[in-house]
Amino acid sequence: EKAGFDHFMLKEIHEQPKAYRDTMGSRIDASGRQVVLNEVGLTAQQIWDIHNIHIVACGTAYHAGLVGKSVIEQLARIPVETDVASEYRYRSPIINANTLVIVVSQSGETADTLAALREAKRCGAHVIAITNVVGSSVAREADDVIVTWAGPEIAVASTKAYTSQLIAFYLLGLHLAQTLGTREAEYIAVTLDALQKLPEQVESILSRVEEIKQYAEQIAEHNDLFFIGRGLDYAVALEGSLKLKEISYIHSEAYAAGELKHGTLALIEEGIPVIALGTQEQLLEKTISNIKEVKARGAQVFGIAMEGNEELHKAVDLVFEIPRTVPLLTPALSVIPLQLLAYYASLARGNDVDKPRNLAKSVTVE
Ligand code: M6R
Repeated sequence: EKAGFDHFMLKEIHEQPKAYRDTMGSRIDASGRQVVLNEVGLTAQQIWDIHNIHIVACGTAYHAGLVGKSVIEQLARIPVETDVASEYRYRSPIINANTLVIVVSQSGETADTLAALREAKRCGAHVIAITNVVGSSVAREADDVIVTWAGPEIAVASTKAYTSQLIAFYLLGLHLAQTLGTREAEYIAVTLDALQKLPEQVESILSRVEEIKQYAEQIAEHNDLFFIGRGLDYAVALEGSLKLKEISYIHSEAYAAGELKHGTLALIEEGIPVIALGTQEQLLEKTISNIKEVKARGAQVFGIAMEGNEELHKAVDLVFEIPRTVPLLTPALSVIPLQLLAYYASLARGNDVDKPRNLAKSVTVE
């Protein structure tokens, strides 16, 4: 059942190219220039009437929602807030008939996410669910459902569900942009072209697991480390950090790179590993100055860069390159080495990778 892999998590990491392809599936038309998202029941007029969007989810799905916020704001220019589901209801969120609420849940059974969905509906919002389980509670109660076709996810640590949630957000963002005319047809075509190249690019990353494995064995010796990044790289840093904590039990923190010097820099000492995501090249100059701040205090920096980025190479101790794509899509590639890092660090520490202590696959209590 593990198809020759040692663990479900590793199998699921390797299933991602297929999960990307299946989630895009027939949602891109034959010309490759248009998204066809028939499962979204909103008419063009209803999309025009959206004032704001709330994305609500837990854990890894919440991290996908943070990417979703940037994606939708950049593509459709609608204000988006992303909330942790266990906090959402209690902050009296401002929801009305012009609010679109997107709940994200792999299982579709997470208690807090379901409760947030019910609250949003009670306040008159239109609710779209992004879920991996057809017929789950979340799928049944939402107005519209965008299914992520990742296939069953068994490992507690979520991998292919997260990346297929990203694909769902790209498709939804492009669908909104097409309807609103916020992006030119050419921009949409270029983005769709890049989207369709992702599965192959993930395959090429997966053929280089050795590079990550070696680094994972080094960090397995440490008890603390940091992830830093700006913009979308920060959202991915949060996910990389969660994955590592969840299965390797190594403490880590993800920080917006520019925020370090407002307190956390005090924790940087000789030899501490810092994983710096630098795929957002428009922000790279700034990220590099933050890398210099940690290096000056003795940190060992592992960079994640887009292929051929010499500047980042020069600034760090070791680099993992991801294939080149458009800036908006880098999370779908940069998270892969971080998933592998968590996996191999957990393995090196002799942990139960698929069933980490204290955690359950589906969280049905609030
Ligand atoms: O099924 P859901 O997507 O609603 O689950 C949400 C979280 O419990 C889940 O993503 C959790 O954070 C993962 N174990 C992280 O790998």
